[in-house]
Amino acid sequence: MKTRLTEALGITCPVIQAPMAFAAGGALASAVSNAGGLGMIGGAYGDAGWIDQQFGIAGGARVGCGLITWKLAEQPQLLDQVLERSPAALFLSFGNPAPFAPAIRDAGVPLICQVQTLRDAQQALDCGADIIVAQGADAGGHGESRGTFALVPEVADEIARQNSEALLCAAGGITDGRGLAAALMLGADGAVIGTRFWASREALVHPRILDRALSATGDSTVRTRVVDVVRGFDWPGRYNGRVLRNPFIQKWHGSEDTLKLEAGAEAARWAAAQEAGDPDVATVFVGEGIGLISSAPPAGSILENLTAVAQRCLTRAASITVC
Ligand SMILES: Cc1cc2nc3c(=O)[nH]c(=O)nc-3n(C[C@H](O)[C@H](O)[C@H](O)COP(=O)(O)O)c2cc1C
Repeated sequence: MKTRLTEALGITCPVIQAPMAFAAGGALASAVSNAGGLGMIGGAYGDAGWIDQQFGIAGGARVGCGLITWKLAEQPQLLDQVLERSPAALFLSFGNPAPFAPAIRDAGVPLICQVQTLRDAQQALDCGADIIVAQGADAGGHGESRGTFALVPEVADEIARQNSEALLCAAGGITDGRGLAAALMLGADGAVIGTRFWASREALVHPRILDRALSATGDSTVRTRVVDVVRGFDWPGRYNGRVLRNPFIQKWHGSEDTLKLEAGAEAARWAAAQEAGDPDVATVFVGEGIGLISSAPPAGSILENLTAVAQRCLTRAASITVC
């Protein structure tokens, strides 16, 4: 498939694999890039040693890296360390990218900014982002409240209004070829896909957690702050994370203030469950698209299937008779 995104990034499928914290290492990123998409290492909260190790595992494949912007602001020196690895792109989410944009531009690395609102998209355009990712609330992991279906075309219109050359990707709920085709119809140049690649052979996911997720439906997820409260992560208040409901989430969702008071004991219980992959207590960050997923094949075959189905959908759409 050829879009402005594939041309700009030198890839053959208009798909960027989301830089998922803890799950997207070098094996997943390189598998996606080697299959024609753009793979991203989930640098997330900025563990420099882990990021280095994952670039090593990617073994020279052309992969990018994602960082959580508000966390990067606490340790800005990390940016130079990542740029030294010559990433194929730098993907910033959740915070103001402006302080980091000049260094990324000077390094000649494409800047991808994931946004959750129109205002964030305007800020990303102002700082010269090469690719804007409009992320809707269906998405797995952190995000905000706007839906993918209206946010994506609204950002597309804003890019056009500003006569900007920036490219647009849709994110949130895009799980199969139908979603990829729909993203293109909404005015995006491609898609950022997380949950579908989280359930792949190469992702770093505990097998017990994966098993639980593969039997879930899209009804089983919820956006919540419970996870950040229990692990003591200081996320800005506007964001929360989409996770699979389990007894731990059911117990604390809506009672986060009480959880803060009991954080010590609950944090220990949660950390042990995370280690053991206990799906009743551990956190399973997945999007609503989990309801469309029932197996975890190699990332390359996921990508192949996504593009084949998207092509069929687009061909079918082109054959609809307009009266
Ligand atoms: C397990 C998981 C971890 C994630 N971690 C991050 C992250 O560290 N940084 C980030 O920018 N986005 C993160 N995301 C969100 C993705 O960037 C992306 O917006 C999302 O996966 C797209 O929606 P989808 O999951 O429905 O495909 C994460 C998503 C998942 C599922």
